[in-house]
Amino acid sequence: MLIIGNWKLNGRKENIKNFFVKLNNLCERFNIKNDISISPPTIYLNKSYNVLKNINNSRISLTAQNIDINLSGPFTGETSVEMLKDFNVKYIIVGHSERRIHHNENNEIVSKKFYLVKKNNFIPILCVGESKRKKIEEAKKNIKKQIDVILKYCGKYSFRNSIIAYEPIWAIGSGFSADPDYVNDIHFFIKNYISKEDIFFKKNNLIIQYGGSVSEKNVQDFLSKKYIDGILVGGCSLLVETFFPIIKKSDAI
Ligand code: 13P
Repeated sequence: MLIIGNWKLNGRKENIKNFFVKLNNLCERFNIKNDISISPPTIYLNKSYNVLKNINNSRISLTAQNIDINLSGPFTGETSVEMLKDFNVKYIIVGHSERRIHHNENNEIVSKKFYLVKKNNFIPILCVGESKRKKIEEAKKNIKKQIDVILKYCGKYSFRNSIIAYEPIWAIGSGFSADPDYVNDIHFFIKNYISKEDIFFKKNNLIIQYGGSVSEKNVQDFLSKKYIDGILVGGCSLLVETFFPIIKKSDAI
């Protein structure tokens, strides 16, 4: 299972070393088997990389929160996918709803980013999800659209070695997570839909994470479902004290 902590626009340089050392020690002590990754703000990737480099056999990888659609040039304030190669980044989040909403990222931009991530041999985590609580059929229609643009722009094999994070926007940061059965149903729909497009693709090979108000209290309800393969955690990933209990409970499944 894949457990990722997305720090979003949070964290301070002085806390990074302590966070990674403490988290790694706990993962070692409890012999954690799951795949653990942290997505710090871009400006802290360097510090995180250096800290992890100095931890022997670190169990934690790095995820980037975003890239630009350009590789270099006059694009003030941006980060290129190539720059991330310097920091041993494994996963790159693409199309998080917060970027779609606050930075006007439309499906075309998201597709370009997804393409660049794949082309540069990183693993994309494509975020999809509906904005309001809806009937499940409507939510599926919405997600289908978000997936279709990727398939159209990047080809029908796009989701090999890729990850999808289903994050219903209404569940993010609200304290009201989605119903695990509802999420399981959506994940099953996504897996089926993609394996119909790419017939050689085994639907069980596609990792789909759930994200939206995941905590120590509800994590097992999600991960015990057949089609939920991981979680993308926001708020509760900011402190080892709230993130490690989630990791430990995930590992017990
Ligand atoms: P919260 O866990 O804070 O709801 O955030 C989820 C999320 O957006 C992770 O990318």
